[in-house]
Amino acid sequence: MVEPAGPATADAFARAVLIGLRQPQKVIPARFFYDEAGSALFEAITQLPEYYPTRTEAAILADCAAAIAAAVGPGRAVIEYGSGSSAKTPLLLRPLAAAAYVPVDISGEFLNQSAAALAVQFPHLPILPVVADFTRPFALPAQVAARPRLGFFPGSTIGNLAPGAAIDLLRGFASLLGPESWLVIGFDLAPGAGKSVATLEAAYDDAAGVTAAFNRNLLHRINRELAGTVRVDDFAHRAVWNAALGRIEMHLVARRDTQFTAAGQNFRLAAGETIHTENSHKWTPAEIRLMAHASGWTPAHAWTDNADRFTVQLWRHHDGALQP
Ligand code: AVI
Repeated sequence: MVEPAGPATADAFARAVLIGLRQPQKVIPARFFYDEAGSALFEAITQLPEYYPTRTEAAILADCAAAIAAAVGPGRAVIEYGSGSSAKTPLLLRPLAAAAYVPVDISGEFLNQSAAALAVQFPHLPILPVVADFTRPFALPAQVAARPRLGFFPGSTIGNLAPGAAIDLLRGFASLLGPESWLVIGFDLAPGAGKSVATLEAAYDDAAGVTAAFNRNLLHRINRELAGTVRVDDFAHRAVWNAALGRIEMHLVARRDTQFTAAGQNFRLAAGETIHTENSHKWTPAEIRLMAHASGWTPAHAWTDNADRFTVQLWRHHDGALQP
């Protein structure tokens, strides 16, 4: 799965836990969700009836892929950021006449499996996987050096970053993809006429408890990897819409006073205290436009589902021409 910032090695996890749990608002960064168990739980989340983003985005892509292909033309190298299982990739590739496909993901094993599966569907398409943390500089394969590029960043993964970090990342995409490039990107929309706060909160707190298990997996991970003694049942899952900051927040809430050891250090939480584990920002169309302009892109087309829940957008690299 996608790693929104920095490496997620065992050392990095220990450091993040030791620092994050010493803050006044305790925090564990969301990128640590995605160990093997967490990645499997995330795949299960994408199939839940309450988690509308995955299937909504796939339906929009199925409808707009031909229009994207017509706008960007044939012969492009498609660079997919955080490709994971590449589940939505065929929807884009099918009408595209791409010259190459470059999936970029931090998990080499996942990447190679997905690349092999895709090669069966697209036997004539050069597939050039790159194992990299896409939030940091990385090089594209030499074979696509001279090709015009199309970036692909589905899943609303951009929402897991704070707005400033999101703009930095998008600016990095613009500089790697270069002049004449395009970007196809998915955004989960803010609540409004077509989406209630209740719909949004249910997407992050499903009836079957899969998202709760995904959240609590961080505590199991502390026990597994940091010789932790966390009593996982002492923590409840909470997903709440923060209207002021335009984001769903996930927390682990101490049900009672509790204490544990992790990586040789002691931690204590009072009943009601929380560990903040994820932000998932939701955007208005105006915020999305602003984000495009702030990061070197010009919005060209936006497609939205009938219920105004999700948008897939096609952005063009800003041409650098002076504006009035
Ligand atoms: C990966 N990311 C876009 C998901 C989201 O919706 O923010 C992660 C997730 N967390 C809970 N459910 C899904």
